[in-house]
Amino acid sequence: MTSLSAPVPPVPAEVRPASVAWLRASVSRFSNGPDHARRRALAVSALAGVDVEALRHKAFEAARRAIGDGGDVMAVVARPVPVAVLAGELGLAVRPPDVVTVAAAYHPHVVPDAAAEAALGRLLAACGGIGEPAAARIGLLVQACDATAGLIGNALMVAFRGPGAAVAETLRSNPPVLRTRRRIGGSDVFVELAGTPFGAGPRECPGARHAIALATGVLQALDGFRLTDPEPAWVPSPNLRMPSALWVTRDRTGGRFC
Ligand code: HEM
Repeated sequence: MTSLSAPVPPVPAEVRPASVAWLRASVSRFSNGPDHARRRALAVSALAGVDVEALRHKAFEAARRAIGDGGDVMAVVARPVPVAVLAGELGLAVRPPDVVTVAAAYHPHVVPDAAAEAALGRLLAACGGIGEPAAARIGLLVQACDATAGLIGNALMVAFRGPGAAVAETLRSNPPVLRTRRRIGGSDVFVELAGTPFGAGPRECPGARHAIALATGVLQALDGFRLTDPEPAWVPSPNLRMPSALWVTRDRTGGRFC
């Protein structure tokens, strides 16, 4: 068994219904055994109905509209646009800022605040109400949020230094998700994802093709922009590597990505 096939650290099952703790206790990401298999199947089947070429095209259009003549790509494009496009294709009428708020409170080492609990309440109402199907839908949006934003931010850092296959190169040399947690020999340990940017085995990311399509569409929309701050700050996180803000402006000289 590779380390990535080991179980994930369990989360508490006795939780307040419809809370962020309930979401953790109801999604595949933090479940093991038959619960994991059943919940993962809900996520995989929802993604199977999504046309990835439509994701790329709609991410392009939405990113063009959102960036206007410039701004912080992470705040106005990289987090909200993939979530909005994916939600649209899944047929879910959610507010992207609610997904961003819940994503920041999703992992078990974070204590959710009142804003995160309220945002989850609205997401649940939009996703069919309390139950595993709604948890799976919200889980997809939340899983897509930071990881795809990181893929876009890191790829842009490459793209702004010269055009090329920025998404593929970023996944190889500067992936946004570095490590994940497992319970091995009774201890909770970090397992490195080196060489497998989307994980491996029974928990491998089911959204890899979707994420690449969304990131590619957003990057295509940012062709013709340049970075105004070449040394961005990085998100302080043990497992994510991505810029916290990425300010850009439309390049009037017509340059491509540099
Ligand atoms: C459309 C965007 C995305 C969606 C819908 C999505 C969805 C998911 C879901 C539902 C899981 C849990 C799978 C399970 O419990 O069996 C997962 C796991 C994972 N995702 Fe994604 N994801 C997206 C983007 C990304 C990106 C951009 C990366 C990084 C490059 C990424 C890396 C991972 C990894 C490494 C895991 C496995 C975590 C582990 O084994 O502990 N995902 N994803």
